[in-house]
Amino acid sequence: MITVENLVFSYTNKTFIENMSFHVAKGEIFGFLGPSGAGKTTLQKILTGLIVTYQGSAVLNGIECKAHKPSFYENIGVDFEYSTLYEKLSARQNLQFFGSLYAKPIRNIDGLLESVGLKNDGDKKVSDYSKGMRSTLNFIKALLHDPAILFLDEPTSGLDPTNSRIMKDLILHEKERGKTVLLTTHNMQDATELCDRVAFIVEGEVKALDTPHNLIMRKGAATVKYTFNDGAEHTAECPLTQTSEDSLLMQLLKSNRIRSIHSSEPTLNDIFMEVTGRTLK
Ligand SMILES: Nc1ncnc2c1ncn2[C@@H]1O[C@H](COP(=O)(O)OP(=O)(O)OP(=O)(O)O)[C@@H](O)[C@H]1O
Ligand SMILES: [Mg+2]
Repeated sequence: MITVENLVFSYTNKTFIENMSFHVAKGEIFGFLGPSGAGKTTLQKILTGLIVTYQGSAVLNGIECKAHKPSFYENIGVDFEYSTLYEKLSARQNLQFFGSLYAKPIRNIDGLLESVGLKNDGDKKVSDYSKGMRSTLNFIKALLHDPAILFLDEPTSGLDPTNSRIMKDLILHEKERGKTVLLTTHNMQDATELCDRVAFIVEGEVKALDTPHNLIMRKGAATVKYTFNDGAEHTAECPLTQTSEDSLLMQLLKSNRIRSIHSSEPTLNDIFMEVTGRTLK
């Protein structure tokens, strides 16, 4: 669905994206992960035809992005970091207006509002919407014309846990409907849960690209951490696969002297820190 080959781009006279290549298959949820300023939004802008001054190739649904025609936007839906809604119009009026810009028929507005719990607020002006309500409205705006490819820039940022769950379920539902989704997120748990594959972008370069599971497995084995008290509190750990070889652990288990015990699997957060050399801010 998307093929990027030898992509080169710079905002200034210094090259920012240098020879980037990757592809995204139809029906895939593909995540761009990486620290602030890494180039995730820049990449989305290139793929959505907003930046056309790149070299190399970025082909989306058979169309070279920089050579796109207006009909290009009939097939892509964009929910970027900053919401683009008319404050003085109600949610419903916004959706009606943006829907009227497409040549093809749009989805049922009431159904979309209902899917994100905004049905009773559909006639409220956007200026009276909360931050989370704006985010969800901006998201359904991207679904209006039932696009084949969705670009989501930090879709769950600023949402409460319930709304974040609703949003993630809707993203998964779009995948089930055969849509391709490209998303950026700073939330590694969301990325693990949602993405079929993720690309770690650091300073305009793809540093790692694989399924979250493969990346996590490459990091190594899970460990068991336990604490016990023999006059003073102690902590020890051993690999999960070698618990029976840990004589101290066996002894403590037999004598019921374990105070706490838990396994700790590597997460995408660990991979983030390893690949980018820094923690999430
Ligand atoms: N219009 C612009 N002109 C010049 N430099 C820009 C412009 N837009 C972005 N940049 C620079 O390009 C780099 C990448 O920015 P980008 O917005 O793609 O980062 P990001 O990975 O999306 O970060 P975040 O996680 O904070 O959203 C940054 O150094 C930024 O300052
Ligand atoms: Mg960004």
